[in-house]
Amino acid sequence: MDHQQEEAGIPHVLTFPLPIQGPINSMLQLAELFCLAGLKVTFLNTIHNQERLLRCTNVQSRFEQYHGFFWFVTIPDGLPEEHPRSIEQFGDIITSVQTVAEPFLREILLSEPVVTCIIPDALSYYAVDIGNEMGVPVIPFDTISPSCLWVYLCLPKLIEAQELPFKGDDLDALVRHIPTMEGLLRRRDLPHFCLTDYKTDPSSLAALKEIERIPQAYGLMLNTFEDLDGHFLSCIRSYSAKTYAIGPVHLHLKTRLAEKQTPSLLSSNSLWEEDQSSIRWLDAQPVGSVIYVSFGSLIVASREEILEFWHGLLNSEVKYLWVLRPNILREGETDYKFMKELAEGCQKNGYIVSWAPQKKILAHPAIGGFLTHSGWNSTIESIVEGKPMICWPHNVDQRVNSRLVNKLWKIGLDMKGTCDRSTIERMIKDLMGTKRDEFKKSTDNLSKLAKLSVGEGGSSTYDLESLIKDIKGFTL
Ligand code: UDX
Repeated sequence: MDHQQEEAGIPHVLTFPLPIQGPINSMLQLAELFCLAGLKVTFLNTIHNQERLLRCTNVQSRFEQYHGFFWFVTIPDGLPEEHPRSIEQFGDIITSVQTVAEPFLREILLSEPVVTCIIPDALSYYAVDIGNEMGVPVIPFDTISPSCLWVYLCLPKLIEAQELPFKGDDLDALVRHIPTMEGLLRRRDLPHFCLTDYKTDPSSLAALKEIERIPQAYGLMLNTFEDLDGHFLSCIRSYSAKTYAIGPVHLHLKTRLAEKQTPSLLSSNSLWEEDQSSIRWLDAQPVGSVIYVSFGSLIVASREEILEFWHGLLNSEVKYLWVLRPNILREGETDYKFMKELAEGCQKNGYIVSWAPQKKILAHPAIGGFLTHSGWNSTIESIVEGKPMICWPHNVDQRVNSRLVNKLWKIGLDMKGTCDRSTIERMIKDLMGTKRDEFKKSTDNLSKLAKLSVGEGGSSTYDLESLIKDIKGFTL
């Protein structure tokens, strides 16, 4: 790390995302917002992801403009090179990274230039212990949705009230012990581990440790805005009074860069190469005519599920742009011939790519809707662009997010737990046709509120300014 030009007294933040696409994306955007505000940032990444990031993006040259204020630092993730690093091995990934990161964090906190604040992903709860032990304030950035974080915070109540583990197999029963969400969440809307075994699932164990640390950290940062998640933010603030809602972070960054007249520098943080031909294909399609289909960076599906989507999409007769990652098939089902044939068969009515410039796609006028896995980044990116959604959620926060999309915000449909061609066909026809105006009205409204939140006097602008002021105070 070249810290030669270090000036004394400037706050120095150490950011540390989980080694997966969504958190890396939001943490890099946050790092850039900090650099724009005059803070120094060290961004800790795993070697595996850093190599991918450098191969697929212009991140290196983009951050050169912050010379003397921004550094990448890498550590191994501790996994063998051939490890698939998919969601099915999420437990391995977080345990292995923790083993490497813990001693590294202690070492970097003793080095020059002095780190004045640590911003880890909230699932890296051990960073709170290390920061507290070494006298460095920690403000975790929780990159999942606030509504799901609120569910996590209520898990001990659910367990104490013996609501969890569930008795009986009625997944439609309403959950009773999550204040503000009574009457909204059914058992099937809770994180996947509540439906399986919360006592052994690695995500559940990490979530339970995370929520213990939240009150022990200096504060907490969330990628949302008051008008979207105000209810949950108030609840979360009873555990962490200094909860800063600074999102949508990508929109916040875009707005700040535009003010500085450097919007062209904003580009992707993708770990896969983005296929720009998808934009050219969209340019030739009528306004609002295409459904965008993408299940994020981690989800794996079976061949049967992919075939159901294929038939559902074809039968709907709606044009589609589909991101089919080469590693989307579940371990043991990888079949390149099948994927190639599928891609060829699809070209009649749509366009398939292995990774797309998602934010640009969602902003494209030809896109009328988004068939998504409801990852939090995808959800908030879709809200910003005013695109209604069909949700096919799997794990972490996705099951909660999809319920809110459908029942609270009324900006889409939830096809949780089903994957058959006739449901897919019907939902696409509803979203893009009969129910389009209804969903579009609510999505446009939220999109407008998102933009206001990051504008002058907006709630997210206020929270970001307070956060930066607080971080600057740590050096005094
Ligand atoms: C994970 C979890 O699954 C999610 O539930 C949690 O909220 C965050 O971490 P991921 O599954 O990758 O993330 O989903 P998501 O949060 O939606 O992030 C995916 C990111 O990849 C988005 O920022 C999206 O714009 C980007 N993306 C996706 C692309 O740039 N191109 C693509 O083709 C697909």
